[in-house]
Amino acid sequence: MERTYIMVKPDGVERGLVGEILKRFEAKGYQLTALELMHPTKEHLEEHYCDLKEKKFFPGLIQYMLSGPVVGMVWTGKEAVKTGRKLLGETNPLASLPGSIRGDFAIDVGRNICHGSDTPENAEKEIALWFPRGVKTLKREKGIDALIYE
Ligand code: GTP
Ligand code: MG
Repeated sequence: MERTYIMVKPDGVERGLVGEILKRFEAKGYQLTALELMHPTKEHLEEHYCDLKEKKFFPGLIQYMLSGPVVGMVWTGKEAVKTGRKLLGETNPLASLPGSIRGDFAIDVGRNICHGSDTPENAEKEIALWFPRGVKTLKREKGIDALIYE
């Protein structure tokens, strides 16, 4: 079953949006597989965003991500990566439709509340980076299994 790494960024934690974001992924039907409040180091964040290190906004992005704790989570279910990004909205919140998290709660690309993996391969890399002790996907009870995994 596909997994994705979703992270509430420091502005999302500070604004009290953790519950709102959890609620949307739960309501959609994804299984919460891991969840942790973390204080990542600069080196850890540089590794997470290594594909962007040549971008002009990279130092500002790292500074923003260091401005407070983040909440890392793993969600499991059908097309979790693609649908997870739909729930988040576009990178630029102004281009995000209302109904998405960024569309409902943000206006600034540099303060866009949340992160979502962009491919299943990157999701597995990110899960290994953020949850190095491993993540266990619990088997659901029969009734819920039928609903989620059919
Ligand atoms: P993530 O889910 O956070 O990875 O966002 P994304 O996949 O939608 O976008 P991308 O990976 O290209 O960029 C990572 C993050 O860098 C974005 O979420 C923004 O916070 C930030 N970012 C991207 N483009 C810009 C930009 O043009 N200016 C600024 N200030 N930040 C940017
Ligand atoms: Mg990205």
